[in-house]
Amino acid sequence: MTAMTASPQTGADGVSTSDPCAKEPSNLEQLAGKFHKFVEASPMGIHFYSLTADDSLIFDGANRAADEILGVDNARFVGSTIEQAFPPLAQTEIPTKYRNVAKTGTPWHTDQVVYADDQIAGAYEVHAFQTWPGQMAAIFADITAAKRTESERQRLEQQLIQAQKMEAIGRLAGGIAHDFNNLLMAIRGYADLAEQQYHEGEDPTNDIFAIRKGTEQAAHLIQQLLAFSRKQAIRPQVVDLNKVINELHRMLDRLLGEQVRIDLDLDPSGCVATIDPVQVNQVLLNLALNARDAMAGDGTLNIGTSAVDIDALRCRSHPEASPGLFAVLSVRDTGSGISQKEQPHIFEPFFTTKDFGAGTGLGLAAVYGIVRQNHGFIELDSRIGQGTEFRIYLPTGQPKVEVTQRRATTATAASETGETVLLVEDEAMLRNLLETALAHTGYHVLVAHDGPMAIQLSQSYDGTIDVLLTDVVMPDMNGLQLCERLRANRPELKVIYMSGYTDDVLSQRELCEQDGPLLQKPTSISNLAEKLREVLGA
Ligand SMILES: Nc1ncnc2c1ncn2[C@@H]1O[C@H](COP(=O)(O)OP(=O)(O)OP(=O)(O)O)[C@@H](O)[C@H]1O
Ligand SMILES: [Mg+2]
Repeated sequence: MTAMTASPQTGADGVSTSDPCAKEPSNLEQLAGKFHKFVEASPMGIHFYSLTADDSLIFDGANRAADEILGVDNARFVGSTIEQAFPPLAQTEIPTKYRNVAKTGTPWHTDQVVYADDQIAGAYEVHAFQTWPGQMAAIFADITAAKRTESERQRLEQQLIQAQKMEAIGRLAGGIAHDFNNLLMAIRGYADLAEQQYHEGEDPTNDIFAIRKGTEQAAHLIQQLLAFSRKQAIRPQVVDLNKVINELHRMLDRLLGEQVRIDLDLDPSGCVATIDPVQVNQVLLNLALNARDAMAGDGTLNIGTSAVDIDALRCRSHPEASPGLFAVLSVRDTGSGISQKEQPHIFEPFFTTKDFGAGTGLGLAAVYGIVRQNHGFIELDSRIGQGTEFRIYLPTGQPKVEVTQRRATTATAASETGETVLLVEDEAMLRNLLETALAHTGYHVLVAHDGPMAIQLSQSYDGTIDVLLTDVVMPDMNGLQLCERLRANRPELKVIYMSGYTDDVLSQRELCEQDGPLLQKPTSISNLAEKLREVLGA
């Protein structure tokens, strides 16, 4: 074929002049000449091609790594064109690029070729270069696992950003609602007093009556804001969801109007959740009112209950949840649906697509806060013009106290460092996310939701704890106090503080910086990983 695919020496008469006892050179020896051992031993896959006079790019052979990486015997493609051997490549720029490499000698490289046929599937990085005029080799490495790790990292990063965003808005909304609630109570109290003083009574034309009506509406808004920021005082108890739905049925019927049919699809074996019953009403009402608006007064609302067992794998997409038995409350309508563009925003407070005055954008924010406060999560299915289904997952039992000791064994772990991190964070969603991200990076993670639990964990754990990663502001004991307590028994313990608060912690900042760095929330996973490496030593 070419100089490098040297065939055995032949004389002028066409009769072979080589030693008849000599071993026939292998295909690779023919392709790579004196470098064939090097090619055979290469951990990267190598494909050889040559161009024919009619510009066909013919597959000449491959090394052993190519067979191993692709999981096929490449020998069977020898003699085929590149398009026959690897049909999906015909739709890509690769055949043209390879031809160009073989002709011009200008090397070509691509970071990523995603390939899939009946037998081969994966992502590959490829370097193509000329081996001889009219011939070329493509060296490739399998980057499928790295790519999966990267997209997993991006997914976690996105979740973390979203969680931190909602957390920050929640704190803001909670602060406003709390102060405003006190003011409102005062306004309402004085309105009551004035009413008594001037004996105005329930006359809608009276000024004081108008003030009282206004405060009632404001109180409702504040209730939704408090629900969103999880500042509502609640009394969780074991609630039969079927019973609550049956009790609310008549009221919903009136609220939704005659043109809307309500279908109940309740699990006959019962459906219990641990939640404040007032909150179940709040959730159902908000979802039903949204459905009514989306159906413009005409359609079917389906309310259903069921129970599911959620395993650890599924919890990975819902970091706020812990594995276990969940009650599922589903509310489905035949309304207008929610566009893909709007879906990521609907749980944010004050996001509304309704006309001015028709919606405040607090209904779903309240639902979100309530579900989070009860350690549940929400799934949404919606298509424009086809309707919407919200599925609310609520743990059936009291939320378990989480103490997990686990070692990351995922094949895609970025690095198996084996160092032990004691993670202390009171916010469940962030805690679960950080745990997943750390385990994914290869750390051994011990998890506690507050200081006392961290101390208990440290006492019962025999191994070394390399670093404490702790929130600063926590209910029972702050991060600084916790670190001090832990160091009484573990003087070598390193520490990284995390904080979302600025003002009250800034005064403590210097203190923090003395024995460990302070990570300001929101922070990215890569930033956290960097800090950990910095503190633990590269
Ligand atoms: N079932 C649904 N079908 C279609 N769109 C919906 C549905 N539920 C919510 N939405 C969309 O999500 C937005 C936010 O809903 P949310 O309940 O938070 O606020 P709102 O209904 O606009 O106002 P509020 O509930 O405070 O009166 C709505 O404006 C609407 O665009
Ligand atoms: Mg609403």
